[in-house]
Amino acid sequence: MYKMNYLMKLLVVVLVLGGFTKAFADTEVTGLICEYHTNPIGIDVQQPRLSWKIVSDEKNLMQSAYQIRVADSPSNLKRKNKLVWDSEKIESNESVQIEYTGPEPESMERYYWQVRVWYGDGKSTKWSEPAYWEMGILEPEKWEASWITFPDEPAADGGSLPGHHYRNEFSTSKKISSARAYVTAHGLYELYINGKKVGDELFTPGWTSYNKRLQYQTFDVTDLLQNENTVAAVLGDGWYRGNIGWKDQDGYYGKKLALLAQIVIDYSDGSSEIITTNSDWKVSNNGPILESDIYNGEIYDATKEMEGWKTNGFDDNVWKNAETAGHSKELLIAPQGVPVKAIEEITPIELITTPKGEVVFDMGQNMVGWVRMKVSGEKGDTVKLKFAEVLDKEGNFYTANLRSAKATDTYILSGESEEVYEPTFTFHGFRYVQLINYPGTPKPEDFTGVVIHSEMDPTGTFVTSDSLINQLQHNIQWGQKGNFLDVPTDCPQRDERLGWTGDAQVFAPTAAYNFDVAAFYTKWLGDVAADQLEDGKVPHVVPDVLQGASGATAWADAAIIVPWTNYLSYGDRRILDDQYSSMKKWVEFMRKRAGDSYLWTGDQHFGDWLAFATTRSDYPGATTEKDLIATAYYAYSSGLLSKIAGILGKEDDAREYAQLSEKVKEAFINEFVTPSGRLVSHTQTAYSLALAFDLLPENLIPNAAKYLADDVKKMGHLTTGFVGTPLLCNTLSEQGYEDLAFMLLNRKEYPSWLYPVTQGATTIWERWDGQKPDGSFQNVGMNSFNHYAYGAIGEWLYNYVAGIQIDVENPGYKHFKLAPHPGGGLSFAKATYDSMYGKILSHWRIKDEMLVYEIEIPANTTATVTLPEAVKSGVSMNGSPLRDELNAEQLEKGVQFKLGSGHYLFNYPL
Ligand code: BGC
Repeated sequence: MYKMNYLMKLLVVVLVLGGFTKAFADTEVTGLICEYHTNPIGIDVQQPRLSWKIVSDEKNLMQSAYQIRVADSPSNLKRKNKLVWDSEKIESNESVQIEYTGPEPESMERYYWQVRVWYGDGKSTKWSEPAYWEMGILEPEKWEASWITFPDEPAADGGSLPGHHYRNEFSTSKKISSARAYVTAHGLYELYINGKKVGDELFTPGWTSYNKRLQYQTFDVTDLLQNENTVAAVLGDGWYRGNIGWKDQDGYYGKKLALLAQIVIDYSDGSSEIITTNSDWKVSNNGPILESDIYNGEIYDATKEMEGWKTNGFDDNVWKNAETAGHSKELLIAPQGVPVKAIEEITPIELITTPKGEVVFDMGQNMVGWVRMKVSGEKGDTVKLKFAEVLDKEGNFYTANLRSAKATDTYILSGESEEVYEPTFTFHGFRYVQLINYPGTPKPEDFTGVVIHSEMDPTGTFVTSDSLINQLQHNIQWGQKGNFLDVPTDCPQRDERLGWTGDAQVFAPTAAYNFDVAAFYTKWLGDVAADQLEDGKVPHVVPDVLQGASGATAWADAAIIVPWTNYLSYGDRRILDDQYSSMKKWVEFMRKRAGDSYLWTGDQHFGDWLAFATTRSDYPGATTEKDLIATAYYAYSSGLLSKIAGILGKEDDAREYAQLSEKVKEAFINEFVTPSGRLVSHTQTAYSLALAFDLLPENLIPNAAKYLADDVKKMGHLTTGFVGTPLLCNTLSEQGYEDLAFMLLNRKEYPSWLYPVTQGATTIWERWDGQKPDGSFQNVGMNSFNHYAYGAIGEWLYNYVAGIQIDVENPGYKHFKLAPHPGGGLSFAKATYDSMYGKILSHWRIKDEMLVYEIEIPANTTATVTLPEAVKSGVSMNGSPLRDELNAEQLEKGVQFKLGSGHYLFNYPL
């Protein structure tokens, strides 16, 4: 009897424990990131921010507390031995952007960390798997290396100069425990150790305002070292010395390339050694890269390849000794963004012989990168690859819209068996590749399109029942890939490719749905602040290579709007803090220009760039007065600045800028709004600005909205340019004219978003009519086929059509809104967004006059759900009627309630 009892008890204990273990195992902490990166090495943020995700089968999961611990090794972390920092249990539901507040991290040290959380009624997770971050070189004096360069290099006579090749041999005699290479350059570099490329990053050190901030990279090279070693590097002109900006401007940052590198080797016996660039290094400019230029392409002479130069024993006697240079090490920074990498490869879909007889590959996608080519032929055979985005109406290869960019790669064969070529220091924006002088018959499988861009994690998907809209979304995403190449650029193909601020700010909210752009923008914003002029003007392009051209409305406001976007999408308060003085300087500049009138008039602006224009005598096109736009943005940005000041606890500023914004609004109303709510510029852009930026007296809003709606109806299409386009559909929808917004979305004729799609576009065009229905082109002076600005409609697709909306009061999706809007003849729309907390899903479909709505809310967040057109009693949630505890509110047109994490399915009759 006793025995039975004991066994039964044991069984109960086992079952209960088993149950508990299961409950524990079902909720875990994963996805640990530090400063937006998984296990970053070489960062220089003094108080790194840590974030994690909670994965659980439980519904309504809310974290109630967390504990983080940090140690200098995995074993110390595990054993809780000599912890560098133990946060102890902190009562908090925050799981993103938690500041490390332990002792100041030290140069080149690695920190291991893990976290556990409490949730529900006192349950806790296991400790997460450890993650780490590693500091870079924090003090300039720790750079023991010298800058080195090629001695007595002749000045370039117009074109690009040959690439530099550097090499040095060294030996190590002891067992290595770890080794890091810290590297940067004036120009672009690739580093090799014992013949292998170090890392898979491209276009290092990236593009920053080089004369103020220069990034260095940190690579873990432990596995590349052996006893006898060769470290080698090749340098090309890149943004530093090559053509950049307009008017054949080369050498903007400097005329000389240079390299700075140090390899820090830690031995198992506790000692360490540093290999540095110095005058013992050898350098040659007699290698195969004869020219490399971002706009013009690369000339590569394979007959000049220097067999074995990257490995031990190469005879470098004829090479010169490198010359040291005194360039600053004070302005070196660790990267905050994401590296550029080769992300995917595509193969040609067709080989075409054009009417002119040109041999052309169609890659099937307007892409950014280059082509890797296999070729066999005679020594000295010279193959040229030329790149173009479109064919002309006769079907011939068309490059006039690239303006002066030669966009040509030239390969001179060595003649030795099959050769494989791809360029190193150039990229092109293209769909079509013309082959000139290719020996033999070209076969598609010998040509691969290598797609490169900043390695942002994809975060968003959006798909509907309409294939044209899906292609639009595809085009928006490809526009983003092609133009997020270390800097947010206007276009990737012509002699421009610059960080145009206006384009960046209008597209930023859309960009933040599609990809994780947090780190990418953080890095760029550092340059926005660095290049801002003394008087507060923000350059038109950042990094500024247009010699200080600056201060245009809606462009310069990127200084406020882009950090604001990062705050909203990632709950990033620090970016607001870091950029605060830059934002304030910009608003103060506007204040100075506007003076006591609070109207910003005069000055040079781009206005509603590329708005609808006609040659009709009765309609001159949709021109919105620049003074109106400038004053609207002045009010908007000062209002945002006030909000930001409030968030940062700067109460005086918050009050000050709220008052300023109010005064500007008053002035706007007095100057630009008639008593009936008509605007002096009777354009869609003017109304969108006034409504979206809240610049009208309450009682005139309906009238102004009607003027807008009437104009859309009268014209039957949009008339907006860069400034109005991102606001138009959002504004119409918000003002109750959803049908018109959908009409604009669905329109297929020029001007519209779908017109380019019907013309076969695979990216977003710069102009509504880049290529006309008869196949002819817009003005060659400005006609890019890969310009993301008009892709700003993407924000409305995610937040309105699919319904995943940010809650401004609870940024970073801690709480968000799910408010879908079935319409526009679509039978379904589905969006996912991978937030910092986890995946959000919003998927509606109409089936047999029922609305089926499926959603997912990640752990540690809540969402307010609005079921459009629903009647409370008719709604089923996961198969049952809505529960009373939800306190669902019956709205005039729908039902609204708040939910915690989980996966839910709703059904109701429409
Ligand atoms: C760029 C634009 C930019 C504009 C400024 C153009 O050359 O490509 O996208 O915003 O100039 O007006």
